[in-house]
Amino acid sequence: MKVKPIPADRLPALLRAMPKAELHMHIEGSLEPELIFALAERNRMTFPYPDVASLRSAYVFENLQSFLDLYHAGTQVLRTEQDFYDMTQAYLARAHADNVLHAEIFFDTQTHTAHGVDAGVVIRGLHRACADAATQYGMSASLILCFLRHLSEQEAFECLEQALPFRDMLVGIGLASSEVGHPPEKFARVFARCRELGFRLVAHAGEEGPPAYIWSALDVLKVERIDHGVQAMHDAALMRRLAAERIPLTVCPLSNLKLCVFPRLQDHNLGRLLDAGILATVNSDDPAYFGGYINENFTQTFAALGLSAQQAWQLADNSFTASFITPERRRACTDRLQETFERFQ
Ligand code: HPA
Ligand code: ZN
Repeated sequence: MKVKPIPADRLPALLRAMPKAELHMHIEGSLEPELIFALAERNRMTFPYPDVASLRSAYVFENLQSFLDLYHAGTQVLRTEQDFYDMTQAYLARAHADNVLHAEIFFDTQTHTAHGVDAGVVIRGLHRACADAATQYGMSASLILCFLRHLSEQEAFECLEQALPFRDMLVGIGLASSEVGHPPEKFARVFARCRELGFRLVAHAGEEGPPAYIWSALDVLKVERIDHGVQAMHDAALMRRLAAERIPLTVCPLSNLKLCVFPRLQDHNLGRLLDAGILATVNSDDPAYFGGYINENFTQTFAALGLSAQQAWQLADNSFTASFITPERRRACTDRLQETFERFQ
C-alpha cells in the first residue's frame, strides 16, 4: 500500500492503532514484578528482593547475560499450571490493548523442569491462555518452544522428547539464551529432527553474536526467521541474501537498547535494515524488563529514528507476512491493517 505522509503529531496514534503481529517475545519476560510477588506469595515462596520497587530498580543491564541472570530469578515463582496461565493471560490482555491481532509466543521448558516443574504443566497453562484469548479477544496466538543454547544438545533432545506429547499445541521451535560461545551448529542434529517432525523453525542469531551465526542458523539449522539479526549490518553479502530471500528479522529495539547492543535508540539500525529491503518486524522481546510492550517499541523507535507512516505500514505488513498464520487469517489481518491506514489518510 502506498501511504501518504501524515503529520508527525498523528504518527504515534497511528502506530498504536495499527493492527500488528508480535513474533518475538519470551513469555517469562512478560512477568511484571507485581505478578512475581503475587505468585511468590501464592506459592509460599520468598523472593530475594524485598518489594516491587527494589526489584524494578535492579533492571539495569550491561549485556544479555546480566539480563538472563535476573530473568532466571523471576522464573522461580512459576510452579503450577495456573501460574503459567495467569502470566500468559496477562500478556495477551496487554498485547490486545496494543492492537496485536496475532502473537507467536516463545517459552522454554528447560528452565522450569530444572525447578522440578513438568513440561506438560508449562505447555498446558500457556495453551489454555492462548485458546481463551481467541474466544475473548478474537486474537490468534501460538507457541514456539525454545531450546536453551547454553545447555547441551543432549539436553535439547530430552526437552524435545518431553514436549512431543503436546506436539499439537506447538507451532515451532526456537533457540534462545546466551548467544556468544554457543553457535547454532551446536544444535544441528536436534533441529534436523524438529524439521522432520514438521515444526516451523526460528533461532536467535546476531543479537550479540557475529554474522557467522546468522549464516549458520540459515544454512545449518535451516530456520525460516532470524530473531534479532541486527549484527547482519556488518556483512554486506548477508544483507543482500536476507533481502533477496525475504528472510524475516524479528527486531526488538528497546531490548537492544537495554542490553547495550546500541548505545542510544537513535543509533539503532532498524531504518537501515528497511532501506536495504529486509523484511524486518518490531517486537518487545521481554517487555516487563526492557521498558515497554510492542507499542512503546514502535513509538519510541519511530521518534528516535524519524521513521515514516509508510515504514509503519511496511513493518505491520511484514509482521503478518513473517508470521506462521494461514493465508486466510493473514488476509483478515491485512484487511484490518488497510482499514486503519485509510482512516488516518
Ligand atoms: N536473547 C536470548 N535469549 C533470551 C532473550 C534474548 O533477547 N530474552 C529471553 N531469552
Ligand atoms: Zn529474544
